[in-house]
Amino acid sequence: MKDTGTDLRRDGVAALEWAARYLEGIGDRPVLAQVKPGEIRARLPQHPPELPEPFADVLRDLDQILMPGLTHWQHPRFFAYFANTATDPGILAELLAATLNSVGFIWRTAPAATELEALTLDWLAELLGLPAGWHGHIEDTASVSTIAALAAARAHTGRRVIVCSQDAHSSVERAARLLDMPLRKVPIDDQFRMRADALDLDDAAAVVATVGTTSTTSIDPVPAIAEACGRAGVWLHVDAAYAGSAWVCPELRDSAAGVEHADSLVVNAHKWLATPMDCSCLWTRHPEALRAAFSLTPEYLRTPETADSLSDYGPALGRRFRALKLWAVLRCHGRSGLQTMIREHVRLAARFESWVRATPGWSIRAPRPFSVVCFRKDGSDAANEAIMARVNASGEAFLSHTRVGGQFVLRLAIGNARTTENDVQRTWEALQRASSAG
Ligand SMILES: Cc1ncc(COP(=O)(O)O)c(C=O)c1O
Repeated sequence: MKDTGTDLRRDGVAALEWAARYLEGIGDRPVLAQVKPGEIRARLPQHPPELPEPFADVLRDLDQILMPGLTHWQHPRFFAYFANTATDPGILAELLAATLNSVGFIWRTAPAATELEALTLDWLAELLGLPAGWHGHIEDTASVSTIAALAAARAHTGRRVIVCSQDAHSSVERAARLLDMPLRKVPIDDQFRMRADALDLDDAAAVVATVGTTSTTSIDPVPAIAEACGRAGVWLHVDAAYAGSAWVCPELRDSAAGVEHADSLVVNAHKWLATPMDCSCLWTRHPEALRAAFSLTPEYLRTPETADSLSDYGPALGRRFRALKLWAVLRCHGRSGLQTMIREHVRLAARFESWVRATPGWSIRAPRPFSVVCFRKDGSDAANEAIMARVNASGEAFLSHTRVGGQFVLRLAIGNARTTENDVQRTWEALQRASSAG
């Protein structure tokens, strides 16, 4: 376009070259940004330009100004929170989705995007071994998927109380606050699972059960919870935002027991399924309940088609073409590629766990069903916090923490497609060095 400083072909080549170089050299950068709050903003012009600037200047400033302020989620030694990866097919599909700039609020505005989204969610359901026939669509995040599911539960049951475990993700509490639905938390057992025997569902609209809790990746007893929900006519929402991707591997499907009875299920493809942020997959067996909660057609959106409009299933009207990247990921990795990645992460987590167990003075603090290891060094919380801080400040690796039984516990979350055994070993050595430096 003549009125911008950009030439798509010329600058596109440079941007793709930038992306390829970045990903090739990613392992040599410090994982955690080594800057102070405000530092990056202070280096940027405080006012917008009057005249068009060349795109090359944007790339230059990305390199020179922004790069030191980036924490690198694509880094093979990113082990914090739930590590993830955007692999090449998803990156390229994002470029194409932005090129198309499709806005799928009704079928007519994006027929192919709408139909591809439904098909891709059917594909993913099949890959994960979910029941056939569920209605699937994509939201931006699990937080929004859970808001949608709980609003549907309220419409479906006419009740308001939400029940979840003490270890459910904070997005459940946020959803309850936003929807003005009271929240009741159920205690957990000694393996951090919801105590199904403590469920009291008389006034409940929904139970949120988690497969793969954020703190320890514990698995709530979904079969028992589903049975209690069935008896009480309560909606069961399963939050498998992280761990649901594991079900692409049949040998990890024990953790899916009972999920076939769920009324809704969320799995984030942007957590452990190689898909760039953001791509949260929400399925339900009651699409009519989501429509009851969200469908609203003003005159200016009325059309003769009776086809599904996916904005009828969640809070947002405008919808990005997110299915394109998920479709690209499923096609270009295939079932076998995704299985290989997940199996390798679980294998690496098991290796790390075995090193911790074999080293005097260190211990594992929670069962490890997937690819996250919870561990600590004997001694005080402050000493463990200092170990983590030293490793993170070194730039060598990035870990985050949780609290288990009141104690500060380190988490090593493996989820990046580039992570090798050498990365995990380097990180274990860095942790041991940091512990002797204290
Ligand atoms: C179990 C679980 N549920 C929900 C969420 C929220 O995910 P999102 O960031 O997509 O809203 C997370 C985030 O880590 C999570 O671990």
